[in-house]
Amino acid sequence: MPQTVKGIIARERGADVELVDIVVPDPGPGEAVVQVQSCGVCHTDLHYREGGINDEFPFLLGHEAAGVVEAVGEGVTEVAPGDFVILNWRAVCGQCRACAKGKPWYCFNTHNATQKMTLTDGTELTPALGIGAFIEKTLVAAGQCTKVDPDADAAAVGLLGCGVMAGFGAAVNTGGVCRGDSVAVIGCGGVGNAAIAGAVVAGATTVIAVDVDDRKLEGAKAFGATHTVNGSSEDVVERIRELTGGFGADVVVEAVGRPETYEQAFYARDLAGTVVLVGVPTPDKQVTLPMIEIFGRGGALKSSWYGDCLPSRDFPMLVDLYRQGRFDLDAFVSERIGLGDVEEAFDKMERGEVLRSVVVL
Ligand SMILES: NC(=O)c1ccc[n+]([C@@H]2O[C@H](COP(=O)([O-])OP(=O)(O)OC[C@H]3O[C@@H](n4cnc5c(N)ncnc54)[C@H](O)[C@@H]3O)[C@@H](O)[C@H]2O)c1
Ligand SMILES: [Zn+2]
Ligand SMILES: [Zn+2]
Repeated sequence: MPQTVKGIIARERGADVELVDIVVPDPGPGEAVVQVQSCGVCHTDLHYREGGINDEFPFLLGHEAAGVVEAVGEGVTEVAPGDFVILNWRAVCGQCRACAKGKPWYCFNTHNATQKMTLTDGTELTPALGIGAFIEKTLVAAGQCTKVDPDADAAAVGLLGCGVMAGFGAAVNTGGVCRGDSVAVIGCGGVGNAAIAGAVVAGATTVIAVDVDDRKLEGAKAFGATHTVNGSSEDVVERIRELTGGFGADVVVEAVGRPETYEQAFYARDLAGTVVLVGVPTPDKQVTLPMIEIFGRGGALKSSWYGDCLPSRDFPMLVDLYRQGRFDLDAFVSERIGLGDVEEAFDKMERGEVLRSVVVL
């Protein structure tokens, strides 16, 4: 029997989100219904609401979630009812050209549920990042459920489902940060701080946090930043060079998604260094760079989709690091809120008051 539950949708561009009744079908072949326990508010949800991702309104928002599998459809073997899982948006297909080349973290054909969740009038919803988890129960592809140790706080480990994984992986997987490296991270929200924490775990010895908000810079120190730069009052490129012997950082992670911060990242890295763009720009943004500088500086200009993660490899490992006290996921949880508080959480995010507001159900 399809179930009707409460969830948060963005009906049209820029309009306040709404708490509405949503119909969740029974899981079909390869699908699972998950009882959501927690879901973080990520900047990407706000991008969806603003029409910055695509125009497939109405969206069922939320995608940084943990919960318990309630039911599975035919043929599902990887998870079973009762399993504690983190939801992921990279259920790899194993067959596309990226998977065939042994690079499944680029999988070009990731799995989502085949059936649609709908409004009570039958209007089909587009789940954010193929998840949609600001809802009591959600329907996903079974491969989107990554089983982890249940002895962990859902609000904390659920954040691995998107922003924290993206930031950590941007530094460690995409940026390839190694022991002894210098790393600069521009933008110290949930994603940027996870990049800082990742750089520390990987052994970076100079970790420079850049933001325009002093409160965010204070927070970044708690995640292991060795230096901070306030981009609203200091020259970011000059300061990063000063802090790295005049050269620039080995790896610069851009976790804002704006042209000016991308340019800072480009010029603040050392020769042959790496720029990692993990911030998501809106479609109107442009950068212009002297081609001779692109050539002359060498190195790599990379983008990081979801921190180049493999959920089955990375989520359990990060939960272990968390439980050993080596990766402070609790520090990302600024507040616990109800489903009806998502709009207010967007405002707090825009005012820079929170790292993550987490909906707890
Ligand atoms: N690539 C991915 O897979 C992926 C996954 C999740 C999120 N994201 C993206 O990462 C970005 C960050 O997400 P978040 O949830 O951490 O957002 P957030 O709003 O919590 O953090 C953004 C931070 O950037 C800072 N900032 C803004 N303008 C700045 C500037 N000019 N210079 C320096 N800092 C500045 C803000 O003060 C804030 O601390 C977003 O674009 C989001 O969509 C990407
Ligand atoms: Zn694939
Ligand atoms: Zn996200």
